[in-house]
Amino acid sequence: SLTDETVVVVLGASGDLAKKKTFPALFALFAQGLLPKDTHIVGYARTKMDEEEFHKRETQYIKGDEEKIKQFKEISTYISGQYDEDSGFQELLKHVEKLEGDRETRNRLFYMALPPSVFTPVARGLKKNVYSKKGINRIIIEKPFGKDLESCREMMTELKAEWAENETYRIDHYLGKEMVKNMLVMRFGNVFFDASFNKNFVSNVQITFKEPFGTEGRGGYFDEFGIIRDVCQNHLMQTLSVLAMERPVSFSAEDIRDEKVKVLRCIPPIAKEDVLLGQYVAEGDKPGYLDDDTVPKDSVCPTFAAMTLWVNNPRWEGVPFIMKAGKALNESKVEVRVQFKDATQGIFTDIPRNELVMRIQPSEAVYLKMNSKLPGFATRAVPTELDLTYKKRFTDANIPQAYEALILDAFKGDHSNFVRDDELDVAWKIFTPILHWIDGKGDGAAPKPEPYPYGSRGPKQIDEFTSKYGYKRSGQE
Ligand code: BG6
Repeated sequence: SLTDETVVVVLGASGDLAKKKTFPALFALFAQGLLPKDTHIVGYARTKMDEEEFHKRETQYIKGDEEKIKQFKEISTYISGQYDEDSGFQELLKHVEKLEGDRETRNRLFYMALPPSVFTPVARGLKKNVYSKKGINRIIIEKPFGKDLESCREMMTELKAEWAENETYRIDHYLGKEMVKNMLVMRFGNVFFDASFNKNFVSNVQITFKEPFGTEGRGGYFDEFGIIRDVCQNHLMQTLSVLAMERPVSFSAEDIRDEKVKVLRCIPPIAKEDVLLGQYVAEGDKPGYLDDDTVPKDSVCPTFAAMTLWVNNPRWEGVPFIMKAGKALNESKVEVRVQFKDATQGIFTDIPRNELVMRIQPSEAVYLKMNSKLPGFATRAVPTELDLTYKKRFTDANIPQAYEALILDAFKGDHSNFVRDDELDVAWKIFTPILHWIDGKGDGAAPKPEPYPYGSRGPKQIDEFTSKYGYKRSGQE
């Protein structure tokens, strides 16, 4: 593994992803002493700038100990160059070799914080010019992995011509989130969960992603993709696969990913009838999606989507998995809600259903809504909660940020929380038909999304939509 002496090259070092996610994560690992011994960080991008300017940008979003930040800058250097010319990469190689000095092993980790239009040329340029012949090479890439099944396959084929699967680390940062990782332990480490997670007990499952802000400033990117490609096909689909998969033979990367692929293959493409789309409109002083200058005035791009997926295997047959995601909603929240079936009536009337909620963010928590006797002389049931809120139970825990956890895994060579090529392929199969329909490429016109006010719960049809699939709302959501 890459335990020692590594040069990390961050491609796209002047961009947003690098500044907001990659460098802060590298810094957090550095500050905790978790980076391999003698690590160097090299930023590479087209922008010409001197070291001072680079260090300023590199640490722009980093908060922490001044002394640590200073040391972090000392291990970081920058070099500018093009993404499609050998000469730039040859300069990069010289720079990297200088940092490596007379090392025996030369391990290199390439982090592609780049727009998809340059993924392939950069992957090719790195392989041709900067690939280490005396050590381990790894490449980290991140979505978008194409826009549909066909473009994804095209891109994967091109990348695979240069980089082997075991050298490639495809990030879906939701797999680095603590609660998503906990799902395996909770499901398979607790017999009562495992025993009740199936069609006999579960009425419906909801996976919800809510953000309280719009596309502010990112409209140009967003409009080309829409909410389904932005978060559903990847982040929420990964969450679903971990939630619904069968028990893996072991915790090894291939065993886990085999099970994820297996469960995804049981899901047929989403049907138009199972989709509700929305687009936010202005409310008060908050702008609507179409008010964003970077968005075409007649755009029908969805900023909200609710979709129901069906997992056709013996465990889940007939259980709706409702995925909901939206921008400019009333709150910030990502959670999984498993709603169980009704308790047999008779001795009870109108008793609420059990619900198991796994809150991914903010403030990780798992809680179970259950009925209990109201203390006192009479026998009366009241809804209560069994509550595992991380902040209360794990008071001293330092919960790593998703990118920290994933970059550390990549250093260690652990692929468990990265996306395998066949996972991508099946995920795109499930979403491509409705995406083509939404893009107006299917038979018939593109559907028009339902308007919803900025800051609301989504289109007004949302409750009708979820109740159609058996969800019973009790109390506040
Ligand atoms: C990104 C999307 O992949 O995930 C963004 O492109 C979204 O639109 C983000 O805001 C959400 O990630 P997190 O970690 O903030 O939930």
